[in-house]
Amino acid sequence: MQEIQKERFKTAQDCREDIIGELMAITQYENHYYATDDPVAKATILDIMNEEKLHVGQLFGLLFRLDEVAQTQFEKGFDEFLNDDE
Ligand SMILES: [Fe+2]
Repeated sequence: MQEIQKERFKTAQDCREDIIGELMAITQYENHYYATDDPVAKATILDIMNEEKLHVGQLFGLLFRLDEVAQTQFEKGFDEFLNDDE
């Protein structure tokens, strides 16, 4: 594997791991959101959780730049979901 391909591969793999980390963070924040009745805590956790969801989108943008097949397959899967939902 050429050096540039190795670097691209490593960055794509890191990006996938970062997406997993963001999804795990969202899950944890959502659990904490529903675990409290404190309105200030809820508002704070909700704000942070929504920021993590934005990060997922940013990371998918980066991944798709690094791995065009990932983007194509993602879009096919999304289209299948939309069509199955009708
Ligand atoms: Fe994040």
